[in-house]
Amino acid sequence: MSSCMHPDNDQTINPSGNESIRDIIEVYTGRRNFLKGSLGAAAVMSLGGFAGQASAYTTTATSPAITFAGVPANLAASFTDQITVPQGYTARVLIGWGDAIGRAGANANTHWDASQPMTEALQLTTFGSHNDGMHLFPFPAVGAQGESNDRGLLVVNHEYVDPGLVHSTSTYGTDPITKAMVDTQLAAHGVSVVEMRKKAGKMDVQRPSAFARRITGKTPTRVSGPAAGHALMKTAADPSGTVVLGTLNNCAHGYTPWGTYLACEENFNGYFGTTSAQLTAAPLNALERRYGLSAGGFGYRWHEAEARFDIRANPNEANRFGWVVEIDPWNPNSLPVKRTALGRFKHESAAYAVGDDNKLAMYMGDDERNEYIYKFVCANKYNPRNRAANRDLLDSGTLYVARFKADGSGEWLPLVFGQNGLTAENGFNSQADVVINARAAADRVGATMMDRPEWVAVHPTTREVYITLTNNTRRGTNPPSVNAVNGTTTGGSARPPVDAANTRANNVHGHILRWKETGNDVAATTFEWDIFVECGDKLATSPNLQGNIIGDDLGSPDGLWFDKDGRLWIQTDQQGDGTGAYANIGGNVMSCADPVTRRITRFLTSPRNCEVTGVVSTPDCKTMFVGIQHPGEDWSGSFTSNSTWPDSGVNGATTQKTVAKPRSSVVVITKDDGGVIGT
Ligand code: FEO
Ligand code: CA
Ligand code: CA
Repeated sequence: MSSCMHPDNDQTINPSGNESIRDIIEVYTGRRNFLKGSLGAAAVMSLGGFAGQASAYTTTATSPAITFAGVPANLAASFTDQITVPQGYTARVLIGWGDAIGRAGANANTHWDASQPMTEALQLTTFGSHNDGMHLFPFPAVGAQGESNDRGLLVVNHEYVDPGLVHSTSTYGTDPITKAMVDTQLAAHGVSVVEMRKKAGKMDVQRPSAFARRITGKTPTRVSGPAAGHALMKTAADPSGTVVLGTLNNCAHGYTPWGTYLACEENFNGYFGTTSAQLTAAPLNALERRYGLSAGGFGYRWHEAEARFDIRANPNEANRFGWVVEIDPWNPNSLPVKRTALGRFKHESAAYAVGDDNKLAMYMGDDERNEYIYKFVCANKYNPRNRAANRDLLDSGTLYVARFKADGSGEWLPLVFGQNGLTAENGFNSQADVVINARAAADRVGATMMDRPEWVAVHPTTREVYITLTNNTRRGTNPPSVNAVNGTTTGGSARPPVDAANTRANNVHGHILRWKETGNDVAATTFEWDIFVECGDKLATSPNLQGNIIGDDLGSPDGLWFDKDGRLWIQTDQQGDGTGAYANIGGNVMSCADPVTRRITRFLTSPRNCEVTGVVSTPDCKTMFVGIQHPGEDWSGSFTSNSTWPDSGVNGATTQKTVAKPRSSVVVITKDDGGVIGT
């Protein structure tokens, strides 16, 4: 949680002067959630100024079967460095950092020995570092829905690296940096495609597989959409501005109904840097400031050995990151494509909804304190009968940003060149300018600053959209006028007041918000919204920390996914050792929520100092894949000072002979009676 490579997004770099809901809150009389019913009026009153009637929002979902017996919290005093799932379930390590992905050839079964430094060559045939969002693409099959439950392509993001673990050093911050080190770290980023096959009744990695593939921070990637070829996208190495080397910081993800994967680029700014002297000679411009570039980045120091990451040697390279990248897992030779029409920001995930009329919307969050929620509506309709017809669907359409109003309604504000002040006089000369500096465009049109938008999930039948707002400790009482629309406000002073959609001044534990489009039309420009839950610790003394969870408490919701039956799976990214504000909540979890009753039940507790991120299942919901990222983070002294997972063997045998380093890994979860996960 606090590693420099794993920022907690504690900087606030939204300098906009957008009107806050506080400005109109005087007319608001309804707190937009169900507090009144669940906790009583006294609790409502204590939580901060939005007391009143219960929300008018009603879900049209029906309750899914959630019948497992929840697991106890993993409390600090008795912390277990393992995955724990309910009785009657088994969690087994499937693949971890450095395990062979099964590339055809001599290295199909060659795993890394984690007691040694990683190398670029080995990383190119093995599972990348710090796995995050993932999706399973089932093979076609005869029978129900035409999808196999026994064979699929598991496509997994690799968000970032811990350079100390990569190079087996505890002094990375002062070690000399070589190009070979940068290349190895670049190879540990990106995406893995791994074929899954059921063998002897269990899903396992198929080695070799013609589909096995690594996409890295160096894989040639095409740029499409409005920003392709724009002057801000051109570099000395790519004067066309249309081919980028690689994708970075792929946090959460998305997929399309035509069977492609979307790797979303989040904290790309952390990889770039330069010297202080260069920044003194040529200070950061407004675009660079708005996206958080700096001399030091997050401490990777790549710019010391690789000029591509020096923002003064190659000032446009950073503009080529922060996009949604479409990957066709079924064609290992296909070029990934950066779909710039979807806007440039710190993308968390991308979740689609298809209307009855086959219009398609993609919902996305920008994960930084006080940033925005976006929607992209494709200009053309999805064609379910012709895959090729959808190939460039994400290149044309309208990008919107959300404004949440205090009366429970909302608006999608178009980010379209020439409209709403997105004009030359305000620095926008084309749609390319709008998408490259989407944050500033959203500032300009008056979007609502949110408490760190993370994953989005769309209900499988109702199309209601849920989003995790993981936390925000940078709200305050400054009137909006303190912030400057011209991008000159320094981070610390951008403290928007609480509002109806972000109700807590010190939102340590985060909340989950949901909305439904007017007329259930994915292309609608208005919606109705509701706070699904405010997370927290019922036993906390501060009302600000208590939340209103029915069932098992949790903090900092991040991963979010609906299975086909409408169970809402919530994964957390809070402090991973269960101490401090988490003394009663315990370590990170995956829990299951009923969207109708809002009851939350803890399904899984995790190893020490990890986050739980990434979840998907086979079409029958009987085999589930769950990601464990950065076990043992913030180690000191020895790599395993905080965790020996997974190579301790507590969740099954691994590829390692000894316990050398904690390794981010994917586990596979099944019910011992072969039933549906969650029942
Ligand atoms: Fe990489 Fe927003 O979590
Ligand atoms: Ca995340
Ligand atoms: Ca997070």
